[in-house]
Amino acid sequence: MKKLVKEIESLKKEKDAVILAHYYVPDEIQEIADYIGDSYYLSELATKVPQNTIVFCGVSFMGESAKILNPQKTVLLPEPTADCPMAHMAEAEHIRKLREETEDLAVVCYINSSAKLKAVSDVCVTSSNALKIVAALPNKNILFIPDEHLGRYIASLLPEKNFIFNPGYCHVHASIQKENLIQLMWEKKAAKVLVHPECPMEIIELGDYVGSTSGIIEYATNSNAKEFILCTETGVTHELLRRNPNKIFHSVEVKQICPDMKKITLEKVHHTLKTGENEVLIHEDLRQQTYKPLERMLELAK
Ligand code: 13P
Ligand code: SF4
Repeated sequence: MKKLVKEIESLKKEKDAVILAHYYVPDEIQEIADYIGDSYYLSELATKVPQNTIVFCGVSFMGESAKILNPQKTVLLPEPTADCPMAHMAEAEHIRKLREETEDLAVVCYINSSAKLKAVSDVCVTSSNALKIVAALPNKNILFIPDEHLGRYIASLLPEKNFIFNPGYCHVHASIQKENLIQLMWEKKAAKVLVHPECPMEIIELGDYVGSTSGIIEYATNSNAKEFILCTETGVTHELLRRNPNKIFHSVEVKQICPDMKKITLEKVHHTLKTGENEVLIHEDLRQQTYKPLERMLELAK
């Protein structure tokens, strides 16, 4: 393992590469990453890093977004089959039809989406900037794709807008059961409940804090509380414990795990760096269509 890490380090220098990782990837990947963060942080950072090659340790929409924003860079995915199922849970045709039928409509696309869906959208959002961006849109009607739960949460905070939802969901966050959360809250009375907005509303309503993975980590780090219940993927525990070794973090379910994020291994990072295999390639027409909503997100999130 040490040998592999050393080889990754020297390959990084040789290939002028930087490693970006999401908080849900395995601990050993977070440890070798140059930067770890939530989806917004990583997509913005991808536009600023000086290296010519970005190794994106996350699911494919993350690497795809980095490539769309930086066509001149080489973006490598250690495991191209690591894909977010929710990214495909909407129909481009249906969106086009709704756009024709609905006046004063903005199509707001969660960044957890395929390039095909981004291409038919007006603006992208992440969990950390969705509220700010949707609030700033001049449109009365908002079609929020693909995540229904994040859409409903944002809608609950913006009653002046009229939302149309799409039945997409994250299987990891949707698997958290309200009864199990209530039971755990009863057992750990002093614990603060930290919720990712991909959870259903009945879980969100029980949260002391609702926000992105970075937001959850910041909140727990700055809180005086010593114990927390996590309603998100348990990969965040690595950074939470690194920053807060004396605090305790519980998950609600035995398996709050994203199997796709866990497909990233050191061997695969080494392989993609060494061979250049699994490069993200996007047809220029599609890239231009998807660039606009991502660019608009970066602009409106400032
Ligand atoms: P964040 O942007 O909060 O890191 O969320 C990404 C994600 O995939 C959550 O499931
Ligand atoms: Fe997709 Fe859910 Fe995995 Fe995030 S945790 S990448 S939303 S399946």
